[in-house]
Amino acid sequence: MKKWITMLLSFCLLFGMTACSTGKTEVSGITEQNSENQMPNKKTEITLAEGSETFANKVAGKSGSNILIAYFTWAENTQVENPDEVDVDATTSASVLLPGNAAQIVAWIQQKAGGDLFPIIVSEPYSSDYDECVDRAANEKAENARPELVNHVDNMDEYDVIFLGFPNWWYTAPMAIFSFIEEYDFSGKTIVPFCTHGTGGLAGCIEDITATLPDSAEILEPIGIYRPDVDSAQPVINKWLEGLGFEDGEKASNMADGERKLRMIVDGQEIAITLYNTPAANALYDLLPLELTFEDFNGIEKISYLSEELPTDGEPDGCDPDVGDLCLYAPWGNLSIFYQDFRYSESLIMLGHVDSGMDIVSSMEENTAVVLEKLN
Ligand SMILES: Cc1cc2nc3c(=O)[nH]c(=O)nc-3n(C[C@H](O)[C@H](O)[C@H](O)COP(=O)(O)O)c2cc1C
Repeated sequence: MKKWITMLLSFCLLFGMTACSTGKTEVSGITEQNSENQMPNKKTEITLAEGSETFANKVAGKSGSNILIAYFTWAENTQVENPDEVDVDATTSASVLLPGNAAQIVAWIQQKAGGDLFPIIVSEPYSSDYDECVDRAANEKAENARPELVNHVDNMDEYDVIFLGFPNWWYTAPMAIFSFIEEYDFSGKTIVPFCTHGTGGLAGCIEDITATLPDSAEILEPIGIYRPDVDSAQPVINKWLEGLGFEDGEKASNMADGERKLRMIVDGQEIAITLYNTPAANALYDLLPLELTFEDFNGIEKISYLSEELPTDGEPDGCDPDVGDLCLYAPWGNLSIFYQDFRYSESLIMLGHVDSGMDIVSSMEENTAVVLEKLN
């Protein structure tokens, strides 16, 4: 316990006494640079990055194959002899256990945007002892060191978009991030930084990374997630990605191979639907044709209960539906077609999208009988 308190106190001193004493947990966006000892004091502000349309086009239809998600996390850069003995409640220790905060965010980015993962690993692992790791990181920063990396991207030419994730270490990115950046030519590429941090926020991370990248690299709006908020950050990450033009990234990657067209017939009128290539959508496809009865739910969606359960293994935990999205709400086993925008919802699984006929959907009355069938 004493060790925990000592560590907590030293962390407060290091990264902002005010924040520790207020106990606030907020998520910071890119609001402060060079903000040593500053509390992340703004909620994430999502703004559409300049040129995001071009960016969305770049991503669309590429199945995420032009996207690399490179990241550094302490947990993958240390060795813990007895993981069972690590005090996971101690904020300074939790990071040595896999997956690590930055890696947790990686999984959500990949779910939404697709892309290949690349863990940045140093040849000489950091100590799993917090104080020793902090000391080495401080020395490396002071010396502007470039720790040697064990792994390399052989086909960097094939990537146009590089997500770059890391923790804030001493108000900047770990020096291994700079080793990584300097190893490749990022001219003309799009860099999307994301950071997890203590109370110091993004500090100088983005400024230092920008200074290391060539001028022709486009750096999109980064996101910073405050360490205690990482576990619940998936909706925030999704919103951030959508704000950057990844709105359709997930759909584009799902649709790239195996997109199917369906039609829903309501009173002789036709609604055109694209079904994505996901486990649940594929299972729905196998059940077609189906006679269904739709009802209204809360003035937001039209829903119809399926008689069979669709598999959700391998699906994202939830999604943030837009108007026209066809989803499965897994706990109730119903299809939903959203005719109003709705918030991110756990267990809501994206299946497809209405291409035309949303006016018919939104005016469907209670207990409307429909036929859902394959077109190809
Ligand atoms: C060596 C070291 C230095 C750190 N320096 C800072 C800092 O300057 N500012 C800050 O807000 N957090 C700092 N932190 C906290 C980490 O940024 C935070 O715990 C992060 O979520 C860890 O992510 P990871 O689990 O992916 O490594 C530091 C942590 C370590 C281990």
